[in-house]
Amino acid sequence: MADRETENTRETGAGAYVWDLPTRLFHWSFLAAVATSLFTAEFGPMDIHLISGHVVLALLVFRIAWGFAGGRHARFASFIKGPAKVMGYARKTMSDGVSAHLGHNPMGGWSVVAMLAALVTQVASGLYANDDILTEGPLAGTVSKSTSDLLTEVHEISGNVVYALIALHLAAVFYYTFKGQGIIGTMITGRSLDIDAAGAEGGAEGSLSRAIMIAAVAAGIAYAVMNY
Ligand code: HEM
Ligand code: HEM
Repeated sequence: MADRETENTRETGAGAYVWDLPTRLFHWSFLAAVATSLFTAEFGPMDIHLISGHVVLALLVFRIAWGFAGGRHARFASFIKGPAKVMGYARKTMSDGVSAHLGHNPMGGWSVVAMLAALVTQVASGLYANDDILTEGPLAGTVSKSTSDLLTEVHEISGNVVYALIALHLAAVFYYTFKGQGIIGTMITGRSLDIDAAGAEGGAEGSLSRAIMIAAVAAGIAYAVMNY
């Protein structure tokens, strides 16, 4: 990205549109629901843990569907890259430093996949978990006690993986911010101040009515599972 282009963008505010509204709403709701799940797992109350856990479930269903049906940069196909691209990006970043990237960069793309996969594991195991006292996931009764105990352990172990991925995510986000990339602002406003709109391709907005339909189905699935 040329410096002059970056300056122009910052002056005019005509940054490239990157994150569609549903992706941004997903991100900040996901943060709130995951943080609530982690907090209540440690300090209670567990009935809130079950509710926030099912909100995480609804958000995951939404985001996975949106990865196929969303705006250009929200689609998995746009940010899941092969090893050659990932290594190339890592090498370039090490030699030239960080640079602006339209959408998730090839390394960031895989960290999104890791984060979503860890939370799918977390929710799926939680549905079968039990705490030996009062709380159990809605599907715990469909398996034997020993299977439920095993999945409770999976739930606790993958909880640590979630903590580690969040730490890595925050470190990466703050590192890029420290290096002058306005990526946090982009996740709030949708627009990048580091890449000019002229350099962007269309189709980043996604269809709002499609997002509402997917969100309704996702909420319905989570509600049905919770009341199983
Ligand atoms: C529980 C905490 C968090 C979780 C689970 C989380 C999860 C995620 C996920 C799944 C994405 C991918 C977005 C998508 O394509 O759907 C993402 C991206 C992003 N997150 Fe978070 N996030 C958390 C906290 C935060 C915080 C506190 C900030 C900033 C203050 C932040 C800033 C960002 C930014 C800037 C991106 C876009 C990265 C890029 O440009 O490629 N996140 N996060
Ligand atoms: C539908 C979703 C979920 C259900 C039904 C669920 C259910 C449960 C249950 C029954 C326990 C008690 C197990 C025990 O005492 O060891 C538990 C613990 C725990 N949950 Fe969840 N959970 C869900 C989602 C989540 C999510 C999204 C997270 C994190 C982001 C999470 C993190 C934890 C952690 C870390 C513990 C262990 C607490 C401890 O140290 O004992 N859970 N969960």
